[in-house]
Amino acid sequence: MDKRLLTLRLLQVYVEVVRQGAVGKAAERLFLTQPAVSLQLRKLQEVVGQPLLENRGRMLQPTAAGKELLLSAERVLAELDDLSTRLSEVEGLARGQFNLAVVTTAQYLAPQLLGGFAKRYPGLDIHLNIGNRQQVITRLQENRDHLYIFSQPPRQADLFCFPIVHNPLVVVASPQHPLAKQQALDFSELLQERFLLREAGSGTRLALETYLQEQGWMLTNSLQVESNEAIRLSVGAGLGIAILSRHTLEASDHSLVELPVRGFPLQQHWYLVWRHQPTLPRVVMAFAQFIEQAVPELLGSAYAEADLAQLSLALTSAMKRGSG
Ligand code: PGA
Repeated sequence: MDKRLLTLRLLQVYVEVVRQGAVGKAAERLFLTQPAVSLQLRKLQEVVGQPLLENRGRMLQPTAAGKELLLSAERVLAELDDLSTRLSEVEGLARGQFNLAVVTTAQYLAPQLLGGFAKRYPGLDIHLNIGNRQQVITRLQENRDHLYIFSQPPRQADLFCFPIVHNPLVVVASPQHPLAKQQALDFSELLQERFLLREAGSGTRLALETYLQEQGWMLTNSLQVESNEAIRLSVGAGLGIAILSRHTLEASDHSLVELPVRGFPLQQHWYLVWRHQPTLPRVVMAFAQFIEQAVPELLGSAYAEADLAQLSLALTSAMKRGSG
């Protein structure tokens, strides 16, 4: 068989004739004349070199060779249909909008990720929203974004949550602080220190409060400072000590020291969070596939979660199950 002569048009005509069982009906469906369809069938038979159809009763039915051809023809045509769907989705990615909302600890990671994503899909209109945990939960409840990054996602049945990056929380002090010279510390030794705390609604603060509650401890001296950056600067200025994401320190000038406190860092994880909808937007899948590669490249394997490469697969199966 000379495959170069086997055109898509011949396959389309053949599949239609088999489906209709008659040349006349197939011609109608294809908006062709009967002689034109018969001519295509003759050509096809010449190319394949074997009889493809036989009359059974009043119907045209495929021969054994015809059945094999039908199988391949249907596969080829289905593949092309699929391609055309995917191409229109890519076109959607070329012009659509993408909204990502992240908690403030992830504010250093998100722009780096989005920079690479925007390069891959330059036509996308990208919106990045940053807030504390409570503010991002509010956005999630209002369904305002395609995806979210949290380290403590709310417990809610309709969420898909997948860990993407380690987010260790560490105790920090200025290098001049007397505790900075200690080789090992117990958290109970810190209870009298002035702690700079994030505002209520912050996930970082919630993590510390949960830890203290589990230990049965209370801080005696605290000061509220409403951003990681302001806390970093305040700790540097000797105002007190604090809990911060290690990523906040690494994005800065390394002017603070991590205190060697037993039980720390508190091992948290950033999760990519998607709220279930009947269809999975193409841009969500594209971002998931993008970060599978981009996170290890940007942060290295020490920070990327071990199962990160399974993210898009997990998203697809959660979508099929209808819940995460
Ligand atoms: P946040 O970040 O402290 O800004 O709320 C939280 C988090 O990492 O959960």
